[in-house]
Amino acid sequence: MITLGIETSCDETAAAIIEDGVMRSSEVSSSVHLHAEYGGVVPEIASRHHTEYMYSVAKKALEDAGKKIEDIDLISVTNGPGLPGSLLVGVAFAKAISFARSIPIVGVDHLRAHILSCFLDENGKIDLENIFPFIGVVISGGHTSIYKCSSIDDFISIGRTRDDAVGEAFDKVAKIMDLGYPGGPIVERRAKEYTGTERIDFPRALLQDEEDLDFSFSGIKTAVLYYWQKCPKTEEEKNKISRYFQEAVIDVLVKKVIRACLTNNTKILAVGGGVVNNTLLRSELVKACKDKNIKLYMPQKNNCTDNAAMVAALGEAMYRFGKKDDLDLKIKPTGRR
Ligand code: KG4
Ligand code: ZN
Repeated sequence: MITLGIETSCDETAAAIIEDGVMRSSEVSSSVHLHAEYGGVVPEIASRHHTEYMYSVAKKALEDAGKKIEDIDLISVTNGPGLPGSLLVGVAFAKAISFARSIPIVGVDHLRAHILSCFLDENGKIDLENIFPFIGVVISGGHTSIYKCSSIDDFISIGRTRDDAVGEAFDKVAKIMDLGYPGGPIVERRAKEYTGTERIDFPRALLQDEEDLDFSFSGIKTAVLYYWQKCPKTEEEKNKISRYFQEAVIDVLVKKVIRACLTNNTKILAVGGGVVNNTLLRSELVKACKDKNIKLYMPQKNNCTDNAAMVAALGEAMYRFGKKDDLDLKIKPTGRR
């Protein structure tokens, strides 16, 4: 079976081909450079970019895989959560192919794709029969959420951010210091460049209550703003703020995620989403999981941000599991409820 995956939930236009669970190609065209001057994704610009590039990205994915559109047996497409105008482009494109070629279509949840991409094996396959139950976490630009995952139909939300997502907080902190966009990789690099010994104790929200698995990151963002307004505007200060902002956010993330495993008696943890590219987050998670004897799954470092391979792999696994949609498939901008 050959599956074409399509992902357009935010600012990446992506297509990928999976053949019998083996990834053949994965193509991404990002509009991130067009949003840089605004310090965040502008929905209108993102959907225009999807409309302009969707065809060429899909064509390139087919070419790289050595396939023709006639070879495709299944279309898998992200239908939520995400920006409505962005989701519509990918879903309409996928429906057009499904209709023209009379092939089945499967709508995939973007957050589940991020989480389940942790279980992609070396061939790009997800074995839905043998991975549940586990604690699944998405740490991205739009979401910071913890789920108790019991089956492909049973993801129960047990913790979420009450305000900003972690990636969003990284982006906003970078914007405060005028460092560029997207902020995550820049703040990470700046943090590594800090060589001083002076610390900044930024707040670590919602850690006191042992039962509470929610997050809040708007307080630390405001603390960075106040600190920035008063400090000298030097490169050293930018690096220092980056270092201690990153440290505080990762400290909270790791503690809560481990707490979620312990309170739910689960020894398997999967953490996906763009922020999982962060080296410090990865190493702190590895350390904490080793300490508590928890088996940790993360996507490979460069597969954390939005891509269509995770969508194709999950769609194919779901189809084999008996799931499919029809041409009435709706977009779900706020996700599954
Ligand atoms: O998963 P993703 O590609 O898109 C969403 O679904 O949101 O995540 C993008 C987010 C951005 O906010 C970006 O700043 C953040 O992931 N990010 C990082 C790093 N790389 C990307 N945050 C911290 N450290 C990184 N190395
Ligand atoms: Zn994402």
